[in-house]
Amino acid sequence: MENKTLSINYTVYSSVDEMLPQDRELVLAAIEAQKSSYAPYSKFNVGAAVRLDDGTIVMGSNQENAASPSGLCAERTAMFAAGAHYPGIPMVSIAIAGGPDCTLCDAPATPCGACRQVMAEYQTMGGKPMSVIMAGSGAIWKFDKVEDVLPFIFDSL
Ligand code: THU
Repeated sequence: MENKTLSINYTVYSSVDEMLPQDRELVLAAIEAQKSSYAPYSKFNVGAAVRLDDGTIVMGSNQENAASPSGLCAERTAMFAAGAHYPGIPMVSIAIAGGPDCTLCDAPATPCGACRQVMAEYQTMGGKPMSVIMAGSGAIWKFDKVEDVLPFIFDSL
């Protein structure tokens, strides 16, 4: 028997000003995407922005529905839009911004498990690491690859 420890490395920024320009641009796009959120039930507005390998940014936001399972998170809205409109172009980064009434929570809003699983598959398809950036008003976290937010990924591809 052996006990093992998994450690995860990530970068904490106190503001977008500390970030690389392309990461800052993606965070600002995620914040902008919050404005298109349709969240009359939770009133929790989430925006996401995906950067493709050619530099294109695809935005998405959470879209709720009275029949609640029919709604979709911001991250999957953005990734599915990217997959549908730009098939075959790797997704190299995703930024997420969330909070009530289009604000940002102090600590970053973090993606749900289903969104992380979808990130994992697009990362595998793209053949390049997809960084995951989570923005809060008090801190911004950057993870360099999806494994860092979803250890022991189920990946049958
Ligand atoms: N939500 C997201 O958009 N992304 C996540 O990763 C977690 C939750 C949305 C779903 C729902 O519209 C609202 O936030 C409250 O759960």
